[in-house]
Amino acid sequence: MTDPVPVITIDGPSGSGKGTVTQLVARRLGWRVLDSGALYRLVGLATSKSGVGFDNHNKISDIANKLNVEFNGEKILLDGEDVTDVIRTEAAGNDASRVAAMPAVRATLLDWQRQYARAPGLVADGRDMGTTVFPAAKVKIFLTASAQERAKRRHKQLKEKGLPANLAALTAEIEERDARDRGRAASPLVPAPDAIEIDSTGMDIDRVVEIVLRQAHAAYATPL
Ligand code: DC
Repeated sequence: MTDPVPVITIDGPSGSGKGTVTQLVARRLGWRVLDSGALYRLVGLATSKSGVGFDNHNKISDIANKLNVEFNGEKILLDGEDVTDVIRTEAAGNDASRVAAMPAVRATLLDWQRQYARAPGLVADGRDMGTTVFPAAKVKIFLTASAQERAKRRHKQLKEKGLPANLAALTAEIEERDARDRGRAASPLVPAPDAIEIDSTGMDIDRVVEIVLRQAHAAYATPL
């Protein structure tokens, strides 16, 4: 079975550079982007705002089902409120990782994510894009980098946005979140058997983009 629409999946742990690579590849090809982490971050934020406990799986699944989100250009609105920056904080990332471990939440987000696959093509960024959401994609990338390097990148990103950041705390949080994302039963963070693994530690991001574009060219005859 092949996807009716060409899809490139870019999976990997937090801070591996997935988001940047996804944006750059999509821009070069003129394709759409799915930032699946943003959807989990929105469910995490909506849960934390609602006051529902993170152990209440039924209520959280209900929240995911009824999520009132609007994507307005670069802006993301939750219940009409601009949450573009709030969902990028480390606290929102940790909440996202907790709700992402719940099978009912993952099932709710599955259809929503698949609807992003529209012509001329999709670059999908996440943890299980190649294994679960788009298993028939012909280009699957699994991007990694050392925890220290990823913490340094996240630190720089947060500082650039004027958000608070502490390198030691970030490293610890990244390691904790990785362990939870890799260890969960529902769609754990693992490379698809047919994924190409790229360790981007010390690698220029343009080099990673070049590798992905070469794979896309071979699979979908896209321009280099
Ligand atoms: O990519 P990100 O840091 O925005 O993702 C936030 C959290 O959501 C991350 O801890 C793992 C989870 N996630 C997931 O489980 N599956 C995805 N496809 C994307 C994100």
